[in-house]
Amino acid sequence: MRYTNIALLFIVGLLIASCGSKETKTEMKQADIPKDWSDPHSYAKPLEAAVKHLNWIAQVSFKTKKIKASATWDIENNNADSIVFDTRNLDIHKVLVDGADEADYYLGDNDPVLGQPLVIKLPEGAEWVAINYSTSKDAEALQWLNAQQTHDKNNPFLFTQSQAILARTWIPCQDSPGIRFTYEAEVKSRPELLTLMSAENPVKKNADGIYKFKMTEPIPSYLMAMAIGDVEFQKIGEQTGVYAEPGMIEASANEFANMDSMLVAAEKLYGKYRWGRYDVIVLPPSFPFGGMENPRLTFSTPTIIAGDRSLTSLIAHELAHSWSGNLVTNANWNDFWLNEGFTVYFERRIMEELYGKDYVNMLRELGMQDLKKEVADLPARDTWLKLDLDGRNPDDGMTSVAYEKGAFFLEKIEELYGRKKFDKFLNTYFEKFAFETMTTEKFVSYLDSSLLSSDTALKAKLRLNDWIYGPGIPDNAPEVTSERFQRVESALKAWSDGAFEAKELKTAGWSSHEWLHFLRNLPDTLSNEQMTELDQSFGFTKSGNSEILAAWFEHTIKHNYKPADDALESFLVSVGRRKFLVPLYSALTEADPSKKRATAIYKKARPNYHSVSTNTIDEMLNYQKDKE
Ligand code: BES
Ligand code: ZN
Repeated sequence: MRYTNIALLFIVGLLIASCGSKETKTEMKQADIPKDWSDPHSYAKPLEAAVKHLNWIAQVSFKTKKIKASATWDIENNNADSIVFDTRNLDIHKVLVDGADEADYYLGDNDPVLGQPLVIKLPEGAEWVAINYSTSKDAEALQWLNAQQTHDKNNPFLFTQSQAILARTWIPCQDSPGIRFTYEAEVKSRPELLTLMSAENPVKKNADGIYKFKMTEPIPSYLMAMAIGDVEFQKIGEQTGVYAEPGMIEASANEFANMDSMLVAAEKLYGKYRWGRYDVIVLPPSFPFGGMENPRLTFSTPTIIAGDRSLTSLIAHELAHSWSGNLVTNANWNDFWLNEGFTVYFERRIMEELYGKDYVNMLRELGMQDLKKEVADLPARDTWLKLDLDGRNPDDGMTSVAYEKGAFFLEKIEELYGRKKFDKFLNTYFEKFAFETMTTEKFVSYLDSSLLSSDTALKAKLRLNDWIYGPGIPDNAPEVTSERFQRVESALKAWSDGAFEAKELKTAGWSSHEWLHFLRNLPDTLSNEQMTELDQSFGFTKSGNSEILAAWFEHTIKHNYKPADDALESFLVSVGRRKFLVPLYSALTEADPSKKRATAIYKKARPNYHSVSTNTIDEMLNYQKDKE
């Protein structure tokens, strides 16, 4: 047992009327909890009692940086004598069961990663529980930004990031991807701000700052999301649109103009989009990820607004999650590749529909480079597709293995059995398992019976076990080459051999990906003159493209190229996307093992980062906040 020495708390009190209100419940379409449910990252016992529907009523205070809320859960009660929720750093005020004005509950021991189980005693046949609580300053899902930390610098901003197990830091919930529920919510905040959730959303502010939400399709807790800020809406297609701060809205709408064609392409590939609208919100630069597939409302970093639509494969990725992940969901975080590998494969199929094979081959090659690099550094067990994250933070599983090895494995099946058959398989898969969860084992057995065993010779060629239950990149991996990258390589060679000056190279029409390939393949031994020549010819230090900047800074750090110092510092101070921070801080510590420079920049930048990023960089730099 993870929690011994349980403190029994007995709370008596009257609950505010809203807490117990049951008028607005929607009918539940929740799939049954699979009999083999298990999740090393949740305290819940859903086979005894599981949540079905949430009514969340919340007041958000930017002043105290707290959310005060009541979470009323309709439950499916299998004659259990208690129901268990996941919580972390929540202040529980009152708990109510079935309208009685008091309930027995206790909080178990705290685990630094998992938090505390909240165990509520259930009278016989209990149908709902209501929990009155406040979030605390340490709510890791929440990032409270002051006006200075936003794009427009006029108003504060709040956003959540629940995946993988941070939903429990802002809502007491059964925080496992294997448990789904519908929800409705009423959120009160400042009237000058607009509140949005992973639900049906408003498009305009109202005078009282109170907004109501409904998510009528069952979702797991990691897809609970909220963003509150001075944002506007702009329509893109009939079903699609974008939210952003006023100063970003035009650029964002322009960048994402192809969102509708992506949706059309995705539906053509794998069946109907099941979530109603598809909108994107462009968040302030501290958002720790590139994107997050919150249903109906993808959360996106502003660092993909490059001005030339060259980084929008990220939108294709988050949209693809509307099938792989949000519709068919990994049962627990050991099966993470089922979410991400499928999504990268699907993302590339969407991009191929829109921009052709040539374009996608660049994405594939960049992906393969990432994978090779990461596999070389990871312990062997972490390079299996099926992970073992028991006793660890599920964040450890967020490597290119799930994404790229996963995607290349699916490509391999496509290569062997043919696109037509594989597409048919995937269509049926998304249809058959919609709104359900999937384990690696269940997927393998379904794949085997409906596709693989139709041809045992091909099946032998696939070597499924090597991919899923084995380390590294199997040597039957699909071939990856890109003609467009070969042209980049020739240009680079011509320059490093001294045949051409940088400004003579034929780079017109290069996309971000070609530049990235160019930068990643620069020789290790650049002189200061060469760095200057490159910078003067291509304007890297002044680039508005975050991918190009981040790749360039790795070189400027390594070669101590001073003219980029200010730009590097301002990039690190404003951008909180972990994917950029990790290589840059590690280049900084490699260049200066005393970590003096890295720590000096980090000290300034840290207040602008989300906890997801500070957790990683604190550890990397051995940084202790208290010593500040
Ligand atoms: N769902 C992920 C983000 C995530 C994964 C958050 C695990 C927390 C834990 C999202 O779909 C994603 O993969 N984002 C990528 C971008 C994508 C284009 C590879 C990112 O943020 O870099
Ligand atoms: Zn993803």
